Amino acid sequence: MADRLQELAAAVDRELLAGLDPRRGTLEAAMHYALSVSGKRLRPLLFLTLLEACRIEAPRYLGLASALEIIHTYSLIHDDLPAMDDDDLRRGMPTVHRRFNEAVALLAGDTLLTYAFEKIAAAPLPAERTVEIMALVTRSIGKDGMAQGQALDLEFRGDAGAIAEIHRLKTAELIKASLLAAAAVAGMDGERRRTLARAGLALGLGFQLADDLLDVTGDEAQAGKKLRKDGEKGSPNAVLHLGLDAVRARIDALHGESQAAIAELGIDHPPFLELARLMLYRSR
Ligand code: IPE
Ligand code: IPE
Ligand code: MG
Ligand code: MG
Ligand code: MG
Repeated sequence: MADRLQELAAAVDRELLAGLDPRRGTLEAAMHYALSVSGKRLRPLLFLTLLEACRIEAPRYLGLASALEIIHTYSLIHDDLPAMDDDDLRRGMPTVHRRFNEAVALLAGDTLLTYAFEKIAAAPLPAERTVEIMALVTRSIGKDGMAQGQALDLEFRGDAGAIAEIHRLKTAELIKASLLAAAAVAGMDGERRRTLARAGLALGLGFQLADDLLDVTGDEAQAGKKLRKDGEKGSPNAVLHLGLDAVRARIDALHGESQAAIAELGIDHPPFLELARLMLYRSR
């Protein structure tokens, strides 16, 4: 990753832990644990580098950026539970229910979700902007977003035609919302937001395809999670249902779509461009 991306990721890491004290009890210790295990931090980085592309002082909005990562981390804690994907390893470390227990993992997930909204509410923005961001983020993770996508993921019975919609809901909507949150901070007009939403959707869909590809072809040590289990769990993995070549071609097409939208917006900030490429072509 480029230096600027690493700098911003380190700032996000600090912000994630700033308000948490693991000595205050099991719940806070579990929240702290989940956030201290380092992930790629892609959603806050998309938000922050897009702010920079709009010539906005990104560090001012680290709280908001961290909220996006906190929501994502909650989704992973629940995704890993035995009732869902039943995983023992996440980001190279024991999952929260393995490190603590299932009840604590449920509560830590719930509490991270609400904690994220404390952070969004505290953003240094006019109230109407804050409400706008809350609305678009909640839409992306509820019954028309991630939670619904996760429900459909669990109900999946092999209908290849349903995969793209599940991917949009469970993964792409939050990624799109991370970009639209930056657009709201920047006060972007409606037409530019629609173009940005197209980029976000393409990046989000390509990102989940890359995750499915990693499950089939990736390296476990690099990924920091158990791979080659989507087949065994019956998960909606595009590679298993559409084939490697089709998925690689689809990723290239989505890359093209995202590049076209980004070019239309005139965004030329190198860290943002690098990140957009990294989302779709990654080894972890
Ligand atoms: C994993 O997300 C779950 C998906 C939505 C595919 P990431 O690949 O962003 O995981 P971390 O945050 O880097 O661990
Ligand atoms: C997870 O998708 C999507 C979420 C919203 C958490 P996966 O179940 O494929 O993610 P991994 O492979 O466990 O990271
Ligand atoms: Mg899952
Ligand atoms: Mg999973
Ligand atoms: Mg996966």
